[in-house]
Amino acid sequence: MKIAILKETAPGETRVAATPETVKKFIALGASVAVEKGAGLTASVSDADYEAAGANLGTAAATVKDAGIILGVQGPTPKALKGAAPGAWIAAGLDPFGQRARVDAYAEGGFEALAMEFMPRITRAQSMDILSSQSNLSGYKAVIDSAGAFGRAFPMMMTAAGTISAARVFIMGVGVAGLQAIATARRLGAIVSATDVRSATKEQIESLGAKAIFVEKVAGIEGEGAGGYATEMSEEYKAAQAELVSAHIAKQDIVITTALIPGRAAPRLVSDAQIASMKPGSILFDLAVAQGGNVEGSVPDEVVVKHGVKIIGYSNTPAHLAADSSALFARNLFNFLSAFWDKEAGKPVLDVEIGDAIRLTQGGKVVHERLLG
Ligand code: NAI
Repeated sequence: MKIAILKETAPGETRVAATPETVKKFIALGASVAVEKGAGLTASVSDADYEAAGANLGTAAATVKDAGIILGVQGPTPKALKGAAPGAWIAAGLDPFGQRARVDAYAEGGFEALAMEFMPRITRAQSMDILSSQSNLSGYKAVIDSAGAFGRAFPMMMTAAGTISAARVFIMGVGVAGLQAIATARRLGAIVSATDVRSATKEQIESLGAKAIFVEKVAGIEGEGAGGYATEMSEEYKAAQAELVSAHIAKQDIVITTALIPGRAAPRLVSDAQIASMKPGSILFDLAVAQGGNVEGSVPDEVVVKHGVKIIGYSNTPAHLAADSSALFARNLFNFLSAFWDKEAGKPVLDVEIGDAIRLTQGGKVVHERLLG
């Protein structure tokens, strides 16, 4: 079984789907690994590192030729797949709804496309979950880059010249990214508060030493919510949340928003009027900017200044720390393929639970229920 790793071609994408560590592990399973020359450069991995791990380096066409599995961070262009083995797997973050035409092209090309972001959130698949591994780093990076853009310090400092007060950081949305943002801001010495619509997060916020800010008037989502995810809230809840947030946000120095609803645009959490209530020099970091944004006026990859407040948001936050995000992404892919590796067949064989959850195309057709009808 030949596994191919191409250089990512999407604008701004700096990650790579395999590292020398995972190359070695794939070879230990009995696979051969081909890597396109230069694939790892933006993630601090040289061609020589891949070669030393046992990979064959070559052109894109040579890399893909006869490959049975093509790994990617994002989906490769169908053109780049020419020459792959019939029925080859493509395992990557495929953005199935945003890149529907590409999914159709994978079907036409006879490929079996596996969307890693559809990995079910079950215990045995945790180590294969690209959304978690990448969100965790995004939460960290949002705090670090907010601290960099902030014209003040995070911790309280008592100096001979006088005392500097601690920064106040508010995290909106406490999933994987939000929890890491709380932990990072706390480590930097900030006074941290956080909010979410799922009641289960209250205890998590408090256990990290932050203050939980919750709507009391209207019930939110009991416990974790379905599959751990939030849904769209009622108008009554939204109004109560806006009122609560308005009072709190005016006193904050940094606000980091991470709120997402699967399959929908990100909920709007911070209005222009609320931004105007913040102190000049405050920072808003919108981690949901690529999904429509939690903050009014946020623009992907631009620093927008409104009412003296800087609004930041990247279209691809993990790409801003490519070495670590690649290392974790590559391990997610290895953990996935190795868990299903059939030694006798010399290739992975998926089970129904995970196979049906992530398989988009098979036998020349789009087969995933979320893409049909
Ligand atoms: P996400 O990225 O979908 O959303 C981020 C956060 O925003 C969530 O906590 C959500 O409740 C919150 N949110 C949505 N609408 C909001 C609103 N209007 N106001 C305030 N907050 C709002 O979430 P993520 O990070 O994917 O995590 C979702 C859940 O899945 C968590 O409970 C997490 O612990 C769980 N999980 C389970 C895994 C497993 O068992 N394999 C792996 C990873 C996460």
